[in-house]
Amino acid sequence: SFRPDFVLVRQHSFSMAENEDFRNLIIGMQYAGIPSVNSLESVYNFCDKPWVFAQLVSVYKTLGPEKFPLIEQTFYPNHKEMLTMPTFPVVVKIGHAHSGMGKIKVDNHYDFQDIASVVALTQTYATTEPFIDSKYDIRIQKIGSNYKAYMRTSISGNWKTNTGSAMLEQIAMSDKYKLWVDTCSEIFGGLDICAVKAVHGKDGRDYIFEVMDCAMPLIGEHQTEDRQHITELVVSKMNQMLSKTPIPSPQRPTATQQPQSGSLKEPEPNKIPPQRPPPQGGPVQPQGMQSQSQEPLQPPRMYPPGQSAKPSTSQPQRPPAPTTQQPRPQAQAPQPAPQPAPQPAPQQKPQSHPQLNKSQSLTNAFSFTESSFFRSSVNEDEAKAETIRNLRKSFASLFSD
Ligand SMILES: Nc1ncnc2c1ncn2[C@@H]1O[C@H](COP(=O)(O)OP(=O)(O)O)[C@@H](O)[C@H]1O
Ligand SMILES: [Mg+2]
Repeated sequence: SFRPDFVLVRQHSFSMAENEDFRNLIIGMQYAGIPSVNSLESVYNFCDKPWVFAQLVSVYKTLGPEKFPLIEQTFYPNHKEMLTMPTFPVVVKIGHAHSGMGKIKVDNHYDFQDIASVVALTQTYATTEPFIDSKYDIRIQKIGSNYKAYMRTSISGNWKTNTGSAMLEQIAMSDKYKLWVDTCSEIFGGLDICAVKAVHGKDGRDYIFEVMDCAMPLIGEHQTEDRQHITELVVSKMNQMLSKTPIPSPQRPTATQQPQSGSLKEPEPNKIPPQRPPPQGGPVQPQGMQSQSQEPLQPPRMYPPGQSAKPSTSQPQRPPAPTTQQPRPQAQAPQPAPQPAPQPAPQQKPQSHPQLNKSQSLTNAFSFTESSFFRSSVNEDEAKAETIRNLRKSFASLFSD
């Protein structure tokens, strides 16, 4: 067993199709008060797509159909309710699954009845949406304060652009898109990382159908840059956390709210972080408040093409650390084989970045030296150094999957 100090969630916590269910871990980490990107509360809330869609419905009600053109969706708690005939063709989405799984295009009510009989075996809910004859998909992503918009056009002809081959192009961010993603990033108490997806119909209209959370795969040519944004986001959250963490004094009361007996151990009162105090009573403060009272951790910077290097006394460039991790297959278009991260090359023309696996990118992200890491530390507080080292370790081990 291990005790993470901070968690970055980059995979789905639950999928009915993969028979994957990590909700117990999410609950455990929430129980222990572990800070996370995105918040564990929001991650848990993303474990049922219609539950998320309900949030989109409320955004729709607030902003209206002009500003937030949400697709019309019908929810069926189980197959028995699948009697009312929608207009055809419809897309039936069964249960909570990803990568196009459990999504069927249905052309007539005979097929709809067939699908209802399949839903009967799944013991879960289903939703239906009108099938939009689409030109392309739109994805607006937000990582911290970085925005990007993409369009994805099916090449192989599959109505699901994430199935078969597709062409991906970055498109300009517009105020309209920004409003979509900014509003969606406020659901469930705030999403540090999220993406809004829509289909752009041949009728020229957009239909928002989904919001993704921090489990969203990175796509396109700027994945290295996106990873950098994620790293910066996480480091800034860690800094917030550290700056809000007082060094507990020996007298600090810690026994006021023990959970049950069980496996969560009471930390010794005069141990300093990373020996995390118990839930609720510990010194870890809620995220979201800014404070700069401590030395910030410095993420290494890689400057994306076309973006000038900000003035910085920054970290020395070091070759990426080797990694033994396997790449994680992506549901997106085929990617080149993994290879070491490219050296930052300012002012280069955009080019396809190799598909780095998550562990590798993390390793790279933290491959600066201890001395540079603590370069700006003046008080040489060994306790703080230990905290940061532990944060790095637990972060690194969680990042691999
Ligand atoms: N109502 C719809 N009309 C037309 N195409 C759709 C509709 N819903 C989804 N799609 C297409 O199918 C793809 C997968 O749908 P989605 O709901 O995102 O499932 P998943 O999250 O499992 O990939 C979308 O990216 C889009 O191209
Ligand atoms: Mg999707």
